[in-house]
Amino acid sequence: MLSAHEQVQDLLDFIDASPSPWHAVQSVETKLKAYQFVKLSETAAWNLQVGGRYYVVRDDSSIVAFVQGKKALVDTGFKLIGAHTDSPGFRIKPNPLTALDGLFRVGVEIYGGPIIATFTDRDLSLAGRVNYKDADNSIVSALIKFDQVLLRLPNLAIHMNRAVNDEGLKLHKQMELPLILSTVVQDYLPAHYFSDLLQDKLGCGVDKLLSWDLAVYDTQKGVFWGSEQEFFADSQLDNLASCHAATLALLNDDVLDNDSTLVCAFFDHEEIGSESNKGAEGSFLSDVLQRIAFSHAYSAEDYARALAKSFMISADMAHAYQPSFPLAYDPDHKVLVNKGPVIKINASHRYSTESISQAQFIDWCAQAEVPYQAYSHRSDLACGTTIGPITSAKLGIRSIDVGNPLWAMHSIRESAGVFDHHYMIKVLRQFFIA
Ligand code: CO
Repeated sequence: MLSAHEQVQDLLDFIDASPSPWHAVQSVETKLKAYQFVKLSETAAWNLQVGGRYYVVRDDSSIVAFVQGKKALVDTGFKLIGAHTDSPGFRIKPNPLTALDGLFRVGVEIYGGPIIATFTDRDLSLAGRVNYKDADNSIVSALIKFDQVLLRLPNLAIHMNRAVNDEGLKLHKQMELPLILSTVVQDYLPAHYFSDLLQDKLGCGVDKLLSWDLAVYDTQKGVFWGSEQEFFADSQLDNLASCHAATLALLNDDVLDNDSTLVCAFFDHEEIGSESNKGAEGSFLSDVLQRIAFSHAYSAEDYARALAKSFMISADMAHAYQPSFPLAYDPDHKVLVNKGPVIKINASHRYSTESISQAQFIDWCAQAEVPYQAYSHRSDLACGTTIGPITSAKLGIRSIDVGNPLWAMHSIRESAGVFDHHYMIKVLRQFFIA
């Protein structure tokens, strides 16, 4: 078993390899393949074996991995962990490049709810998915990642923005977010300059590029920090830390050899409401679960019985208490970094937790010798949500929302606790083997 610091180093490496949700799925696939997981295509017929290890990818950025349990599904149900692969930030517009005052700038659209000011003065670059025609004239999809720093959003000097420390940094989303890419290259049309940049990177022929999904990412690598190196900071900890914890909990030989059918489902599009063919609101997970059941000649009633026996842990990061801002939190529900996974509770069911799933999770924590904390949002602030309520409502299964304490959620640089990551892996593993 890896130490807590080794597990977090593995997480930081995982995030470095995952600058976009499309790369995050590829990083999960790499880990699954090391444990002999087999990729299934949604367009092919499935012939599943007891004990078999499989995964399915939809549209390159959502993934469902599962291990076919040794016992009948009607007796065990599914044991699911859900998380999301996407993080808030900037996405590149379809006609991105403009020349203005001697500079080529890249137009961006905001994805989800980032803390926009944190994107200024960072070493930014581009990563995502591109589609082009290959030599045989077929359309090919490929991942693309620029390792060098390509882009920047320089702040305005304080001499022109004297109020910034009192009023905060406010940026106009249309006028002030375009990112600087280069000085204007004479005799070069901006559109051609940008597509040539992508084509040079891909090595595909001129005029072959068709379309792209491109995210802006921070090239700075993750670090440990604190006098005991007990904290760590990186981009996209919400929610790649939960995807990583669930994957590490699953990938142990003693977990994989299981009576129950274990499922890890990581969705794109959580940060924009989950409504898409690959989001938690879409059909992806229920399609996969039905196909698992029906491949064993289960009836519709058997499938309903299996769901009624099932349990899902929705894992997403939680708001760690930051003592500089005491009034932002309910004083009786301060969750502290390195004090254990957080059970999220909300009477309006923005989190899927209810008292029975809560009791069950507390018991798994006790079995795994892991501390836990309970979180309730301030009553006078709007509470966020997760894939938990959506997924449990769609499938009709019992669910709980948990997550590790995180500082600066949706900043380009978030922080969390080394021991919490270790605890989360431990309790998720306990859930799978209990
Ligand atoms: Co999240």
